[in-house]
Amino acid sequence: MKRVVSGIQPTGNLHLGNYLGAIRNWVRMQDEEPGCLFFLADLHAITVWNDPKDLRANIRAMAAALMAAGIDPTRATLFPQSLVPEHAELAWILNCIARIGWLNRMTQFKEKSGKDREGASIGLFAYPVLQAADVLVYKATHVPVGEDQKQHLELARDIAQKFNTDYETELFTLPEPYIQGRAARVMSLRDGSAKMSKSDPSDMSRINLTDDADTIATKIKKAKTDPEVLPADPALLDGRPEARNLVAIYGALADQSEAEVLAQFEGKGFGAFKPALAELTVAKIAPITARYNELRQDIAYIDDVLGKGAARARELARPTVAEVYETVGF
Ligand code: ADP
Ligand code: NA
Repeated sequence: MKRVVSGIQPTGNLHLGNYLGAIRNWVRMQDEEPGCLFFLADLHAITVWNDPKDLRANIRAMAAALMAAGIDPTRATLFPQSLVPEHAELAWILNCIARIGWLNRMTQFKEKSGKDREGASIGLFAYPVLQAADVLVYKATHVPVGEDQKQHLELARDIAQKFNTDYETELFTLPEPYIQGRAARVMSLRDGSAKMSKSDPSDMSRINLTDDADTIATKIKKAKTDPEVLPADPALLDGRPEARNLVAIYGALADQSEAEVLAQFEGKGFGAFKPALAELTVAKIAPITARYNELRQDIAYIDDVLGKGAARARELARPTVAEVYETVGF
């Protein structure tokens, strides 16, 4: 049986990039595989400074966004990592398996710690070990990984293998990558070379999941473009990052390739394309926004879903930790 496990950091101010690049993929996974486990990676979130008020709100905001987008807590198990202490318990054991040299090779730590490597938290350094625990604690068979996470999945496999070898056991399953369709990478509406991000100071650069239809239309109307018309051949969008981004957003929302989108708009300028894109965006996003805004008011419901999800997750995680404790001699 396939067991798919995936985590996402709880962030606030969710935008179209988060939806098309991350949230929507989970909905597709849930529809493809029964019994997915999805967690909000709040233990990971505090590896860098996170204001407690923001973190608490962002955990619920992300849970609301996921459910608004289609995660069904009766089919998938949705929970915050911190409510399942087995993640941290197993991470400690795995810290004793992983080698400093292995972690020193992780490129993400080098990127995230920047110049002040000595000033980074131990948690940031050990982050990939917690990630290994996140999936091994459920004996996950498949883990979706983006390009930037491939190295961490390899590490999880190495840790699992070393544990199995050191303790002469077959306790851990070595997780495989779960291959998904090409994930959309959404760029800023103001600059085709920067990704759409909550940290961009200009609100015009992104479409927020809380924007109403008029705001969405205005932002798309004002999006940076060029005076050329759209070509039939996607290769002719090379060197036109803003144009390509809008075509890519249309394609992601309509489930069409660039070529399919261009076939409909070939020879048309942005005066014609933008209203069509705005209409499509509103059609796809407005129902999610409505549910998101509604759910976010119902904190009791969100907390109930997350509490029940955590209880279900613990039923799976507890036996693994018990087995591990027994194996290491506790
Ligand atoms: P932000 O850049 O706004 O701070 P996060 O880093 O919190 O976003 O990302 C949360 C999730 O959303 C991650 O899985 C990330 O890959 C995805 N994501 C964020 N921005 C984009 C984007 N512009 N295009 C595609 N996916 C994105
Ligand atoms: Na970010």
